[in-house]
Amino acid sequence: MQNIVLIGFMGTGKSTVGKRLAQSLAWDFVDTDYEIGEVTSLSVSEIFRRHGETRFRSEESIVVARLSQQERLVIATGGGTVLNPLNWNALAQNGTVIALHASLEAILARIGNKNDRPLLKGPREAIEKLWSERQECYSQADFIVDTSQKSVDEVVKEILIQLERMTKNEFSEVAKD
Ligand code: S3P
Repeated sequence: MQNIVLIGFMGTGKSTVGKRLAQSLAWDFVDTDYEIGEVTSLSVSEIFRRHGETRFRSEESIVVARLSQQERLVIATGGGTVLNPLNWNALAQNGTVIALHASLEAILARIGNKNDRPLLKGPREAIEKLWSERQECYSQADFIVDTSQKSVDEVVKEILIQLERMTKNEFSEVAKD
């Protein structure tokens, strides 16, 4: 069985949903930002501040290459991970890619004034531009779930139903729960 890869903009719920989904499937959950933190002993913000985005992206690609070799992982990626086609290909070759979508309003409301995302520090216009530019990339996923108005459990349920359809009942027992 391959991996399940969650992609999408910051604040769409990839980590929260990913953890719950992994629990439902009794699979392991991994978060690329967390893994980068483990390898570098730095937070995402610190890497950006001390070494710049280029270094962050390079650490991210190393983590992606490693995780893509494994199986039965639910992988929550960072919002920019799959913009690199090499990362996309590695993840998609060994996994089902699911995009979590959310409206900009829902994202801004969820994120509030949390200060741990370097790319969300700019004005609303800059965030909106980034959000718009990335939609085309995220839309290439195997399927998309809109999380704007849904609870975590509702999103997980929808994912399980879609996976069941795609994989000819492999996930049917879990989707019924
Ligand atoms: C980023 C998203 C972040 C993190 C980094 C860059 C992006 O992850 O990887 O701040 O480029 O969208 P989340 O999507 O988990 O916030």
